[in-house]
Amino acid sequence: MNINRLFKKKDISTILNEPGNSHNGLKRSLSATNLIALGIGAIVGTGIFVITGQAAAAYAGPALTISFVISAVGCVMAGLCYAEFAAMIPVSGSVYSYSYTTMGEMLAWFIGWILILEYLFACSSVAVGWSGYMLSLLEGWGIHIPWQIAGATFDHLKDGSWVWTGRIINFPAVFIVGFVSAFLIGGIKQSAWVNNIIVVIKVSVILLFIGFGLSYIDTSNWTPYIPENTGEFGSYGWSGILRGAAVVFYAYLGFDALSTAAGEARNPQKDMPKGILISLLICALLYIGVTTVLTGIVNYKELNVAAPIALAIDRAGEGLAWLSPFIKLGAIAGLSSVILVMMLGQSRIYYAISKDGLLPKVFSKVHDKHGVPHNATIFASVITALIAGLFPLHVLSELVSIGTLMAFSIVCISIIVLRKTQPDLKRPFKTPFVPVIPILGALICIAQMAALPWSTWVRLIGWTVLGFIIYFSYGLKHSKLNDK
Ligand code: ALA
Repeated sequence: MNINRLFKKKDISTILNEPGNSHNGLKRSLSATNLIALGIGAIVGTGIFVITGQAAAAYAGPALTISFVISAVGCVMAGLCYAEFAAMIPVSGSVYSYSYTTMGEMLAWFIGWILILEYLFACSSVAVGWSGYMLSLLEGWGIHIPWQIAGATFDHLKDGSWVWTGRIINFPAVFIVGFVSAFLIGGIKQSAWVNNIIVVIKVSVILLFIGFGLSYIDTSNWTPYIPENTGEFGSYGWSGILRGAAVVFYAYLGFDALSTAAGEARNPQKDMPKGILISLLICALLYIGVTTVLTGIVNYKELNVAAPIALAIDRAGEGLAWLSPFIKLGAIAGLSSVILVMMLGQSRIYYAISKDGLLPKVFSKVHDKHGVPHNATIFASVITALIAGLFPLHVLSELVSIGTLMAFSIVCISIIVLRKTQPDLKRPFKTPFVPVIPILGALICIAQMAALPWSTWVRLIGWTVLGFIIYFSYGLKHSKLNDK
């Protein structure tokens, strides 16, 4: 085999002129506002509704607000690089397509495979989170779902063994994945419209919490603002703030999924950078606001609960009790839109890879009427529903961060490579201070990857091996680029 085949690169002009990116393909119907809303829809979810409290309690205390700022800085650096690519190569494949032009086919396949890992597990973990909130809301209304269909089928114990929990499937998690997929198959415009409504609900709920919660803050809860380190790295103090930043990084994920909708944006050159950066900024402000109020109402030591915002409302007393059901409904709606955008991302990656011949053709078929890759969406929903129905949250969420961090580092490095190799390309949006920002962005991501547990790395290696088996046994033989 000729080794050069593996590193063959695609021309940017070829990608832009392919059917499906220029014409005859996905419908270009998303406006700048839709893109910003899709960004917020994908970002605000389990991170703010669940993880914030746990990170304040275990790592950073009230100074978790600083963790959110640090994490936002890292994400904005990667976001600026994403914006340059998304405006320059506005197609559905996101980082997969970007790396096809900078690093060649085999590495592009690898990164596409990593993106599938990110979106598949992000989607299924959020579906499991959704199931938890839904079950608790139904319990509150006196509706009991039989335990056999209200939780994961398998569990992974601390000693490394797998056990059967006695349950058949996590039915609510399977249900929400199927429900959201039906919307996606109905068309991107309809999905964007549903997403807009959900975003209005979840942002309103968060603003209500911040606005009404402010007057219930007891400033003594903020002293000490940075609790003294216990002697262990990551347990309060500045190292705790850093670990907190790595943990709340999950709360910002989703802006990258937005770049997979670039092929469906009306004016991607101008609107993709806006969509990515404005949605990131709005979410950072919301997160800092929520954390300030949350740690002001409840002492950080008591925040290690599944629904920290609901706890804060209870603590505020009678005056805020009316807000409690709205918060639960807001969380349920909020998690649905995260699933929607992540599912969109997953199906568009299958679509883009299949168009290049590296996955079977059936995934790149576009529905005549709805203009969406319906087969890719159905496949994504079946796999996601199965995983969400069978496995518990802790197993799924571990894999999300490592995949995303790797994708972010590759995007940052690719910006520098492309500026050197193709300096004359038309760049409607330029990342400022290159190479400083991409280098810092990549370093921050790599440092966070290094801090992840070894078991996550082992699973990543397993996933990678499976990916290469598929590439060498199928992709390489069917690659359209290698045909030419
Ligand atoms: N950012 C998404 C969330 O917090 C993944 O749910």
